[in-house]
Amino acid sequence: MNFEKLIQERFACKAFTDEIIKKEDLDFILESGRLSPSSCGFEPWRFVVVSKKDNENLSKICFNQENVATASHNIIILARMDLQAKDEYIKKQIARFCPPDDAKFEEILNAYTYETNTLNPEQLYAYAKANCYLALMQMSLAAMSRGIDTCMIGGFEKDKVDSFLELSYPFETAVILSLGFRKEAPKYSKKRLSIEEVVCYY
Ligand SMILES: Cc1cc2nc3c(=O)[nH]c(=O)nc-3n(C[C@H](O)[C@H](O)[C@H](O)COP(=O)(O)O)c2cc1C
Repeated sequence: MNFEKLIQERFACKAFTDEIIKKEDLDFILESGRLSPSSCGFEPWRFVVVSKKDNENLSKICFNQENVATASHNIIILARMDLQAKDEYIKKQIARFCPPDDAKFEEILNAYTYETNTLNPEQLYAYAKANCYLALMQMSLAAMSRGIDTCMIGGFEKDKVDSFLELSYPFETAVILSLGFRKEAPKYSKKRLSIEEVVCYY
């Protein structure tokens, strides 16, 4: 599917058929998530794949949304919170391009975490979540490129989804992507502001 068609075709799918996504397609979608860009290359995410047998329980804590209940798979994107200079995870990320015994390591570590070091937990969550949305979008478009529909799900009870997955620090639920095959065509054509309303040239 060419990119112009793909961005027209993708829509927030409200209900899916019983068809299950092939393993190779699911792997491609997850790989697209893995390759998503992130601020400072921190990759502050993890992707939890929930299969159909758990849809009903998951949907209950997502306001009974039908897309969650009928999806072939739901991918729960977790935000990670250990993004400061003191955190082993970030030291490992930086060590990928600057060995820890290099004289510049501390300087680079502090430069990369300049922003995150100042953030409180609530702000760290917002920072990580913004990055998770990039993976969300990339996986949604990757899915559409293989004829697989999606719906991004921000409507969920976060504490209950965290408990459902038995999460502990450093992970918290950021957003969910429901995936499958559309049960029916979109009810509405795309509703968007006009190009004049959203673009200006400085
Ligand atoms: C962060 C985010 C959260 C969303 N949460 C939900 C949701 O919980 N349930 C739902 O049906 N759609 C959800 N949507 C889909 C939007 O409502 C939809 O993308 C928007 O209305 C534009 O429609 P379109 O995607 O069909 O073009 C969400 C979208 C985003 C980006």
